Amino acid sequence: MTGRIVPPDAAGIAAAVELLRAESVVAFPTETVYGLGADAFSRKAIGEVYRLKNRPSWNPLIVHVADVAAARKLAAEWPAAADRLAAAFWPGPLTLVVRRAGHLTGVGADNDTIALRIPAHDVALRLLAAVGLPLAAPSANRSESISPTTAEHVLRSLPDVPLVLDGGPSSWGIESTVLDLTTPVPTLLRPGALGLRALRDVTGAIALPATETADGVGRPSPGMSRRHYAPRAVLHLVPDVRAVDIPEKTGVLTYEGVAVPGAEILSAEPREYAADLYAALHRLDDSGVETILVQQPPESEDWLAIRDRLGRASAK
Ligand code: TXA
Ligand code: MG
Repeated sequence: MTGRIVPPDAAGIAAAVELLRAESVVAFPTETVYGLGADAFSRKAIGEVYRLKNRPSWNPLIVHVADVAAARKLAAEWPAAADRLAAAFWPGPLTLVVRRAGHLTGVGADNDTIALRIPAHDVALRLLAAVGLPLAAPSANRSESISPTTAEHVLRSLPDVPLVLDGGPSSWGIESTVLDLTTPVPTLLRPGALGLRALRDVTGAIALPATETADGVGRPSPGMSRRHYAPRAVLHLVPDVRAVDIPEKTGVLTYEGVAVPGAEILSAEPREYAADLYAALHRLDDSGVETILVQQPPESEDWLAIRDRLGRASAK
C-alpha cells in the first residue's frame, strides 16, 4: 500500500503527530526539499528512516528543531559563531554541525557531533511545535537519488512512507548549506541554498571542501559520496550543448542564453535555476530518456551548490 498525501491543515498535522509519537515516520515540506521526519530520540523511528531510504548507516541525519533553545539542548557546546549564525539565518537553509549532547544517541552516526537546523517553512514549524520533539529528517528520497521538491516526488521515490504533508513546491529547491563549527575555522561540508558570501559576512573565513580548492583545504560531510543526487537516466555535463548532436532518447537541460530547441530551459539566475533543477530532472526521468545532457553551469561562486549537485549526479 502506498502512502497518503494530505493537506497541512489541523487534521493533517494531527495525523502526522500521531504517527511520529507512535515512532513511525512522516514526510513534510521544508523551504529546501521535503524531509523524511522521525522522532530524533526514537531508535525505532530512525531505523525506519534508514531502511526506507536504503541509507548507509554511517551517514548521519540532520535534526530539525523549533527554536534555538531546542537546538542548544541537543548540543554539548554552543560556540559564539553558532549564536551569530542562528541569529542571522534561522529559520533558514543553514545546517550547523556542533558537538552533540550525550543523551542523544539515535541519529545514526557514531560520531560525537550533531547537525541542526530550524527550517523556514510554516508547515514544518507547525509540525515541530505540535509534536514537541526534535525531528531527524534527511531528504525524503532513496539514498543517492534526486531530492524531492514536491509531495508527489516523495511518494514516487518512497511509496511506503505512510503520510506526506503537502506544502506545495519547495521554494529553494536545493538542500541546506552544511557548516561544521567544531573546526577552528568553520568548514563548509556541503554547499547549499545559503550562499558563501552571506555566511562570510557573519563568520569571516570559511574553509572549503577539498573538491573546490586547489590546496585541498576542508573535508566533505560523511554524506557527500561521489555519486549522489542522481536521476535514473545517465547524466553528462557538457561544456556547450549547442555544439552537440543530440542522440535518440536523450534529454537536454540548459539555461536561458544557451538554449537549444526541445530542451528543458531553466533560468540563468542561480536561485531560480536551483528552485527548478530537481523538478526538471524528475520530468526528464519521467519522459523516459536514457541520457540527460546538462549544460555546464557558470564557474562563479553563486553556482557552487548547483555545480556540486550536478557533478555528483553525473559521477559514475
Ligand atoms: O535541506 C536539507 O538539509 C534537507 C531538509 C529536509 O532539511 N535535509 C537533507 O538531509 O538534505 P540529508 O540527510 O539528505 O543530508 C544531510 C547532510 C548529509 O550530507 C550528512 O552526511 C550531513 O548532512 N550530516 C548530518 N549529520 C552530520 C554530522 N553530525 N556531521 C557532519 N555531517 C552531517
Ligand atoms: Mg539527501
